[in-house]
Amino acid sequence: MPDTMSAHDPSWSAVDMAKISSPVNVDAPYSTANLAGKTILITGGASGFGAAFARHWAAHGAHIILGDVNDAAGEQLAAELRSLSGSSGHHHYGHCDVRSWSDQVALFKLAVSVSPTSSIDAVVAGAGIVDLSTNHFDLPRGLDKDDPPPPPLNVLSVNLTGVMYTSHLALFYLRRNPEGRDRHLMLISSIAGIAPLPGQTEYTVSKHAVMGLFRAMRGTSWRQGVRVNVLAPYFVETSLLPWQGMALLAGGVVGEVMDVVDAATRLMADHEIVGRGLVVGPKGVVDTQGIDSLEEEGGEGLVKRDRGVKEQAVWEIFAHDYQRVDVFVWRYLAMLNAAKRIRGWVGTVKDLFGIWKGRRAAAKGKGKGKAVS
Ligand SMILES: NC(=O)c1ccc[n+]([C@@H]2O[C@H](COP(=O)([O-])OP(=O)(O)OC[C@H]3O[C@@H](n4cnc5c(N)ncnc54)[C@H](O)[C@@H]3O)[C@@H](O)[C@H]2O)c1
Repeated sequence: MPDTMSAHDPSWSAVDMAKISSPVNVDAPYSTANLAGKTILITGGASGFGAAFARHWAAHGAHIILGDVNDAAGEQLAAELRSLSGSSGHHHYGHCDVRSWSDQVALFKLAVSVSPTSSIDAVVAGAGIVDLSTNHFDLPRGLDKDDPPPPPLNVLSVNLTGVMYTSHLALFYLRRNPEGRDRHLMLISSIAGIAPLPGQTEYTVSKHAVMGLFRAMRGTSWRQGVRVNVLAPYFVETSLLPWQGMALLAGGVVGEVMDVVDAATRLMADHEIVGRGLVVGPKGVVDTQGIDSLEEEGGEGLVKRDRGVKEQAVWEIFAHDYQRVDVFVWRYLAMLNAAKRIRGWVGTVKDLFGIWKGRRAAAKGKGKGKAVS
C-alpha cells in the first residue's frame, strides 16, 4: 500500500493482488496456436455461439466436449467436428440440462474420460435462454387467489443457476490441470448484463448476475490458477432471439456471429488475458480522435490515440474494476495473498523438515549397519 494512503482512503488498487492482466488491445493480432490440443467443454454447445466456437476451435485442433438439451443437434455437431479436416477427432456430445447438478457433473466426468490428456483446459458456460412466456413477471395477476403460484423463474434457473453450477465445477476440474496447461473459464453475459433490457426483466437480471459472478470471481480465481473472462454480445441472430425481438430490431444494426467467435477466440487462445470482459456489438466505424487509450492500467496520464478511423466490433468493459477498490476488497485480497505466502512458507518448511528427517533416518540406518559389521 503506498505510504500516502491511510486506512480511510478508499482509493487503493487491487489489480496486482487479483492478478488481473492489462486491458485487452483488441486491435492487436493474436495467434491461434494455443488452441491445438486443448480440451474445451462447452455448455449450450449444440447451436448458436457454442456451435460456432466449436467449429472454429475444432478446426484449429482443439478437442470439443458439447453439453446441451438438444441431443439431435449436439450428436450431429460432434459427428461433423470429427469429420472436419484438421480436427483432432476427439469430439463428443453429452446430454446436459444445465439446471441439473447431476447432468453437469456427468458432463465434466465425460470430458475428463474422453480427453486425450484426461483433463479439461477450458470451459465455456454458454447455455442460455430467453423465455417470452415469463414476460408477465412485471405484471403480476391473480395473486389474490388461494394458493397463488410463484413466478416461473426458468430463465434464472438456466442462465444463472446453470452458470453457477458450471463455474463451480470448472474451478474444481480446471485446478486439476497440470502446471503449464491452460485453465480458462469463459462466461457469456450479454449487453443485457450491462444495460437494461426492458420487457425482459428476468433475462436482464440473469445476465447482470453473470456479470456480477465474473466481477467477483476474477478477484479470487488466481487461487486455483484459473483465468476467468467474460463476453457480452449485443443482439445477434441465433435461435435464442425470438422473431418479436428481430422485428423490433428491423432496420437497425445487429452483431455478427463471427465477431463473437473472434472475441471468444482471442480470450481462449491468449493465455495472458486474465480477468477481462469484452462487449461485442455491431461493427462500427470509429473516429479514434479523442478516444482515451486504456493502455495504462494505473489510470494516470491516459494516452490519446492518433487520429484516424477504424472498424471495431469489440470493446473492453469494466476495465477499471480493481483499480480503485474500497477498504473491504483491498483488505480481503491482501489477506488471501498473505495466506498464500504463508502456505508457501509452510510448504517450504515442511519440505525442508521432510528432507532433514529422511537424511537423519538414512544416517541412523548407516550407523546401525556399521555396528553390525
Ligand atoms: N444471440 C444473442 O443475441 C445473444 C446476445 C447476448 C448473449 N447471448 C447469450 O449467448 C449464449 C448462447 O446463446 P445463442 O445466441 O447462441 O443461442 P442458441 O439458442 O443458439 O444457443 C443456446 C443453446 O443453449 C441450449 N440450452 C437451452 N437450455 C438449456 C439447458 N437447460 N441446458 C443445456 N443447454 C440448454 C440450447 O439448446 C442451445 O443449443 C446464451 O447464454 C445467450 O444468453 C446471446
